[in-house]
Amino acid sequence: MAHAPGESKRMRVLGIETTCDETAAAVVRLRSDGVGEILADEVMSQIAAHAAFGGVVPEIAARAHVEIVDSLIARALAQAHLSAKDLDGVAAAAGPGLIGGVLVGLMAAKGIALAIGKPLIAVNHLEAHALTARLTASVAFPYLILLASGGHTQILAVKGVGDYERLGATMDDAIGEAFDKTAKLLGLPYPGGPAVEAAAKDGDPERFALPRPMVGRPNADFSLSGLKTALRLAAESAAPLRPRDVADVCASFQAAVVDVVEDRMRIGLKLFRQRLGRAPEAVVIAGGVAANSALRQALERFCAEAGLPMVAPPQKLCTDNGAMIAWAGVERLRLGLTDPLDVPARPRWPLDAKSQRALNNKA
Ligand code: KG4
Ligand code: ZN
Repeated sequence: MAHAPGESKRMRVLGIETTCDETAAAVVRLRSDGVGEILADEVMSQIAAHAAFGGVVPEIAARAHVEIVDSLIARALAQAHLSAKDLDGVAAAAGPGLIGGVLVGLMAAKGIALAIGKPLIAVNHLEAHALTARLTASVAFPYLILLASGGHTQILAVKGVGDYERLGATMDDAIGEAFDKTAKLLGLPYPGGPAVEAAAKDGDPERFALPRPMVGRPNADFSLSGLKTALRLAAESAAPLRPRDVADVCASFQAAVVDVVEDRMRIGLKLFRQRLGRAPEAVVIAGGVAANSALRQALERFCAEAGLPMVAPPQKLCTDNGAMIAWAGVERLRLGLTDPLDVPARPRWPLDAKSQRALNNKA
């Protein structure tokens, strides 16, 4: 359903996120100057429910989403001083993610869209991460992005809404996953990223000589499983681990990851220039791992050297949240990109056309 330009003035979209271990609902409004404004942003983390297992348990996640999603939506609408009928569209993350959870959020969105007679927007969770920089910093297309979360690690050229080119990706573990596994190995709490970063603050990054997998390779891909093995051996060599040893292992691990990311982004930028024939408008970092300050600082240096602006959304909008889903909903709605009420939930949903074709051929 296309919207006339004047209509966009009051475009208000509800966004629902339930793909992993955060239940979130938010309302974003598109202002007449084209800037997005977050009217409400409610997140309920299930971290406590999964902590004992050292990772997300899909059945527990789906049940927790069911229990909380309706009240969270009500809270977001109340916070935004709106009732459901004031909305111009309802967006939900329709994948990729844990299918039980995805279904909960998508069904809730379908119910509301049907009840108020407004469009449904089925949002790709990765696209929502990728477009967040346009909500927080109005970044123009095209830009280079590092998307790094617990389930995904990709370097993409973001050319437009729905128009992505993958320049590199991990061949095994995601960066967030590597942080989580490191934490588990060292007995640190889940999720691992913040715990490893905190421990690394007092550590010596040079004490353990860990490998920098893929550094120097001409493609922009990642491989982190070798680093994980080297880390385990390093930890075993220093056992029993005192707090100082844990800090040193964490600092050495984080330094290795930062070096790898910097090198892979250097190649990613080169590939971007080659394929698009121009420099990006900005370099963006998104996804839960973008909350890591050491990584942010390294990329800031890298961008300063390249003479490009670096954009990192505020930490709260880097980890999973509803505002990014609502914003992706706004971006799609204003282009008329809405979905039928029978749109399916998708456990796997690659962003770029090439990976999408590969997935379709396999199915
Ligand atoms: O985007 P996100 O909230 O959920 C997914 O879609 O995966 O990302 C969560 C991931 C977890 O693996 C977590 O350990 C990691 O992001 N993470 C961090 C930090 N904060 C969260 N990794 C490194 N440093 C951090 N400060
Ligand atoms: Zn995410």
